[in-house]
Amino acid sequence: MANLGSSSRDGFSSKFGVIAAAAGSAIGLGNIWRFPYVLGESGGGAFLLLYLFFIIAFGVPVMTSELLIGRKAQKNVFGAFKSLAPGKPWFLVGTMGVLAAFLILSFYSVVAGWTIEYVYLAVKGSLSGSPDEINMIFEEFKASQFWPYFWTIVFLILTALIIVGGVKNGIEKYTKILMPLLFILIIVLDVKALLLPGAGKGIEFLFKPDFSKINGEVILAAMGQAFFSLSIGMGVIATYGSYIPKSQNLGKTALSVSLTDTLIAVLAGVAIFPAVYAFGMAPEQGEGLVFKVLPNIFNQMTGGYVFSVMFFVLLTIAALTSSISLLEVIVAYLSEEYGMKRSYAIWATTLVVSVLAMLCVYSVKVFGSFDFISSNVLLPLGGVLIVLFVGYVMKKSEVRAELEAHGKKVVYFDIFYFIVRYIAPVAIMFVFLNGVGVINFG
Ligand code: PFF
Repeated sequence: MANLGSSSRDGFSSKFGVIAAAAGSAIGLGNIWRFPYVLGESGGGAFLLLYLFFIIAFGVPVMTSELLIGRKAQKNVFGAFKSLAPGKPWFLVGTMGVLAAFLILSFYSVVAGWTIEYVYLAVKGSLSGSPDEINMIFEEFKASQFWPYFWTIVFLILTALIIVGGVKNGIEKYTKILMPLLFILIIVLDVKALLLPGAGKGIEFLFKPDFSKINGEVILAAMGQAFFSLSIGMGVIATYGSYIPKSQNLGKTALSVSLTDTLIAVLAGVAIFPAVYAFGMAPEQGEGLVFKVLPNIFNQMTGGYVFSVMFFVLLTIAALTSSISLLEVIVAYLSEEYGMKRSYAIWATTLVVSVLAMLCVYSVKVFGSFDFISSNVLLPLGGVLIVLFVGYVMKKSEVRAELEAHGKKVVYFDIFYFIVRYIAPVAIMFVFLNGVGVINFG
């Protein structure tokens, strides 16, 4: 069975398959759960502006860099750095990525577990009642000593089973049909939310920047969210890049994956914030935001039952297409660097992540610090190393040749190269150091 990272390198049956898989990795809980909740806590519109800026200024160049490293080397991220810079410690970017994958998978599967609980509640028809009652459903579930643990494990096992099944069966088949369906559902939710009385206030919160809300922490949160949402800075995208045919324009691929991902996040915001205000809630609900708000919209919809079941099922699947990319990073590392049997690597990793995930269910602090360290520290630092690699270790001619391998000159080359060499590494480091308080520019 062909797998991502296997030596046969025939993992995807079509060009669209790779893009679908990369988009599948990018689109997930990060867009629908994390983006609205972090934006809600960070003051709204100003955060959105920063987020959009980071996507374009750093997100697209970092993603392009990752894709080009992977495609040039025709290897997964560790092999890629080893073959492009033999004898140098650049493969440590991959090692950092593995660490990030462990941390992200641990808290990610907890939230995915909440999503599965909501599938179950939606099917049972129990997501009804007043906004207060809906709020209590989430709180009571989280306080349970059994279900949050149980669903987390179920999600991790599902992830492992898909990886055992291989790339073609596992990733491609689901993503192509189901993600567009999720997209349509979000649009339906948007329309419904915008028609709620009082929706305008939510739109204002989301789109009208209040610059007094910006500080170093908010800027770092926006950058971390951009990296997290695009799945960049840890080598996942480099591995997908190695499967992209030379005939394909990498810059365009990075741009379209990034824009699709961003659109979904913004559309999720357009569904959630009008509803937040319409139902008299506060945007700073924390990590339960989506779960507390969306059922209220479904309750006001004709056919809300069917929509809610479909929505939470699709969200679970979106989470799966992201979690499999995370598990794959770890498994590729263990099997290719240490010669571990893939099936053994898959189940051993699942066991370790299960233990870490249990800690995340048990303690909000552990959950929060895993999230912070991975999104706001490891991914941006990984991003810096990736652009430095493309800007300083690879030859300029090599970089250009890879970006133009599809046979056409790329007009954006000079600006890309300038960002990668001078702007991105300095600016990402600056935002990072300022955000964690090492330097202080407000
Ligand atoms: N980008 C995913 C999301 O938005 O849900 C989360 C993620 C997947 C982050 C894979 C990092 C990663 F390597």
